[in-house]
Amino acid sequence: MREPRSWLFVPADSEKKIAKALESEADAVIFDLEDSVAPSEKARARDILKSLDKSANGPERWVRINPLGSEQLKDDISIFASPTFAGVVLPKAESGADVAELAHRTGNLPIHAIVTETAASLFGLLSYRHAPSLSAMSWGAEDLSAALGAASKYDADGKLSFTYQLARSLSLAGAVAAGVQPVDGVFADFRDEEGLAAEARAAAREGFTGKLAIHPAQVGPINAAFTPTADEIAHARTIVEAFAGSPSAGVLSVNGRMVDRPHLTQAQRVLSRAQ
Ligand code: COA
Ligand code: MG
Repeated sequence: MREPRSWLFVPADSEKKIAKALESEADAVIFDLEDSVAPSEKARARDILKSLDKSANGPERWVRINPLGSEQLKDDISIFASPTFAGVVLPKAESGADVAELAHRTGNLPIHAIVTETAASLFGLLSYRHAPSLSAMSWGAEDLSAALGAASKYDADGKLSFTYQLARSLSLAGAVAAGVQPVDGVFADFRDEEGLAAEARAAAREGFTGKLAIHPAQVGPINAAFTPTADEIAHARTIVEAFAGSPSAGVLSVNGRMVDRPHLTQAQRVLSRAQ
């Protein structure tokens, strides 16, 4: 299965937004039962999800449940009795043990864990290796800044402060170490398309292969940023063919540049994402 490039959040208590999200070009939609749904609306949101038709077309359907230990959890998990959903998004995960517990409770549905939302979570980012059913990891700054008592997640120049950059890098490395998809966090200013596109391209350069979205307008720029360009595909193909033509070579010259085994790995990754 191809990794989703765009993961679009939708508050699960809004039938209008759900319909819009399912018609969007998002690779995956995340029906949210957590932060975007008021406590008084959570039961209604679960009922809406339970009554969704089971169309096989359109984006993958994921559900973000409330955190482990919350009083909502048991009712949230009851939703997965229906086979409508591709997987479960776990907020405020602190370790691979949290993922293992959820995997056990959901009958091993695929899990996308959001791994930097509490203070303790920053010390657990290597613990996701071998976590059962884990398929993606993403990071979040909003809950982390609230947990840390920060006045803002930005420094005086308007750039993400060191703490959140650290969280982001650790979640990337943690996901790669665990062999699961690294997904970049939300770009909250959904009217700033250029800012989003720049952030998504930067994430793709660093190794993320997808990004969370909160508005349908963010889907197009995100899909574009995580789709290899024709030039990138052609270049990758040249490298793969060069090594195929010289199976015993460790290093080769391609278009006047040195390429060795790490370049081959990178090229193979580009081609597999281009499929
Ligand atoms: N999924 C599907 N449809 C959405 C959407 C989403 N995430 N966000 C907005 N829309 C719809 C709106 O309902 C609106 O539909 P309409 O034209 O039929 O009225 C249209 O897209 C344009 O929306 P817009 O007016 O630009 O935004 P808004 O002010 O209605 O909504 C937010 C802004 C932030 C409240 C909304 O984007 C949202 O709910 N995002 C998801 C929040 C979330 O899930 N957070 C949890 C993870 S951090
Ligand atoms: Mg949150």
